Amino acid sequence: MTTATAKATTAQGSVGTAHTRVEGRDKVTGTARYAGDLPFTELAYGWLVLSTVARGRIRSMETGPVLAMPGVLTVLHHQNAPRIDSDYIGRLGVPPDPSAALFQHDRVPHLGWPVALVVAETSEQAREAAEALVVHYEEKPHDTAFDGERPDVPSQDTEEKGDLEAELAASAVVVDARYTTPEEHHHPMEPHAATARWEGGRLDVVDSDQGTAWVAEELAKLFSLEPSAVRVRSEHVGGAFGSKGARAHQVAAVMAATALQRPVRVVLTRRQMFSITGYRSPTSQRIRLGADADGRLRALEHRSVNLTSTVFEFVEPCAGVSRVMYDAAAHHTSNEVVRLDVPTPTWMRAPGEAPGSFALESALDELAERCGIDPIELRVRNEPELGPVSGLPFSTRRLTDCFREGARRFGWAERDPRPGLRREGRWLLGTGTAAASFPSGAAPSTAAVTAQADGTFTVRIAAADIGTGARTAITLVAADALEVAPDRVRVRIGDSDFGPAMIAGGSMGTRSWSWAVAVAARELRERLALGGGVPPEGVTVRSDTSEAVRALAQKERHSFGAQFAEVAVDVTTGEVRVRRMLGIFAAGRIVNPLTARSQFIGGMIWGISMALHEEAVRDRASGGHVGADLAGYHVATQADVPLVEADWVDDPDPDDPVGIKGVGEIGIVGAAAAIANAVWHATGVRHRSLPIRPDRVL
Ligand code: MOS
Repeated sequence: MTTATAKATTAQGSVGTAHTRVEGRDKVTGTARYAGDLPFTELAYGWLVLSTVARGRIRSMETGPVLAMPGVLTVLHHQNAPRIDSDYIGRLGVPPDPSAALFQHDRVPHLGWPVALVVAETSEQAREAAEALVVHYEEKPHDTAFDGERPDVPSQDTEEKGDLEAELAASAVVVDARYTTPEEHHHPMEPHAATARWEGGRLDVVDSDQGTAWVAEELAKLFSLEPSAVRVRSEHVGGAFGSKGARAHQVAAVMAATALQRPVRVVLTRRQMFSITGYRSPTSQRIRLGADADGRLRALEHRSVNLTSTVFEFVEPCAGVSRVMYDAAAHHTSNEVVRLDVPTPTWMRAPGEAPGSFALESALDELAERCGIDPIELRVRNEPELGPVSGLPFSTRRLTDCFREGARRFGWAERDPRPGLRREGRWLLGTGTAAASFPSGAAPSTAAVTAQADGTFTVRIAAADIGTGARTAITLVAADALEVAPDRVRVRIGDSDFGPAMIAGGSMGTRSWSWAVAVAARELRERLALGGGVPPEGVTVRSDTSEAVRALAQKERHSFGAQFAEVAVDVTTGEVRVRRMLGIFAAGRIVNPLTARSQFIGGMIWGISMALHEEAVRDRASGGHVGADLAGYHVATQADVPLVEADWVDDPDPDDPVGIKGVGEIGIVGAAAAIANAVWHATGVRHRSLPIRPDRVL
């Protein structure tokens, strides 16, 4: 993209002006060092050994021959690893990932469970020895087959109001359908990597993660260390999408660095990432909608089932989106789980909303078809006044404006609603739409802003730029708060020593960090305005937004959006091509239009991938993946990505000091439904199971 070169920014108005990434030059010239690149003297390399059985126990391990191999320094496993404490609830309200509680017992709960770490002088020696390690298992029968039909953990998450059966019986039109989404994986360009060492009595970890303060806190708890004894740094991150928290590789690196008293690096392979860095659970979602003939909903039921491992209860909260989008006299939603002998799923971009919106927004399209009402008009008629479950007012809700603007730009008015009518050679053409929403929250963060004697400023905050452009956004926010040009502001992030801060997650990172930075920067500007000059050591102002965030008024806070897609379907091969997409979002004040647009478009492209390509297939016999690599796991490539446009309507959050809501995840929400609805419009056939593979189209 060459269009959005940065306009010369003035002393004010940086927020809202396109700005190229402040670290962009470092990244494209290779100066930016990632966690697996940084040199250390005496560095040793650890290689994880993962189980080859899906359930059972480790009977024995033949470590002797491996220890005799060239360069091998040690083999860590459940009989010699230090004990760790995993019995706690972390900062994000969840216990640690069980595979991070490494080598604590001989049980194997899934295929690809870490059973040993081989450490050697070089990465190649470590890998060769790890692959040579013979592990004997006592194998037990396993079950990895998800059919979504038998939730076996009582639902912890049910919301019900009204008499569902009575409202369905009184409805003129009823849609009752089950939608399924497959197991999906987030594979950031940069694999998970960590180097740990002891330095001056402190544990120093160079990592690739979504929050250094978070990972440092988890490591301190796991190893029973004083929080001040752990420092985690993560300056550049090549993608994360929910997968980069405290995981087995950091813990392995710390264990080995402690045992050997030298720096140890552990980098994961793509294949390993398929089993120990989380993924999106497959889902099975039943939706029942009941409406009057004019499309007004009387009944809405959304029941979702996802799988989890036997060692951790992870809920993919698909029904959450129904609690925000539409109201009905009877409104029943639940999220339930099935336990299987599989790795533990985790957050993956728009957890809940991404698969949940596929089901809900497909069902809305089916309802529109049955009622003979335009899908946009149907949604406008069902705009709720208040949160359907919470009863709270919305901070802002400009969904209808997104649809109006999107419809105008997409040319929706000319659309013939009848399916299967438009043909262009061997292609059937269709268009579809869907709504999007994602929560817009804020979390406490701390920041420090320093004025230097030379007229420049340094911001320090334990933020994470996982490729989103967060560092640049914070630079613009700080510049405006200081009333200086952004080239006078240097932002340092990715260091837990900067104090607690929100992670890059939940679409809350930039919003939460900007809040803390704006507060400190404004106070600093006021202090400097009083005069007195800047002493050689500088003037520093610190902020902590804990109280301000807690005092936020109780409201339904979300970003919204309208997705549009045009597809062509080859009825002889079953191939679906997306021809164009448009997303119009109401997602708070846009800090940097250049990188925000990339966030939206990136999410929408992932929606293409979700709709048409992505599917991790498990082999029932082995309990492992068929093709745990990016050859077997298909993602949208350049040739699959047509003209994708994203834009927004003005929607500042009235309670945020900068007006931000968050743009990280909403781009994928509704995108797959818009494509599936377009495939129906092209062919007259509903696809309720993703991905819409050629063999399913035929
Ligand atoms: Mo993201 S899935 O909010 O870490």
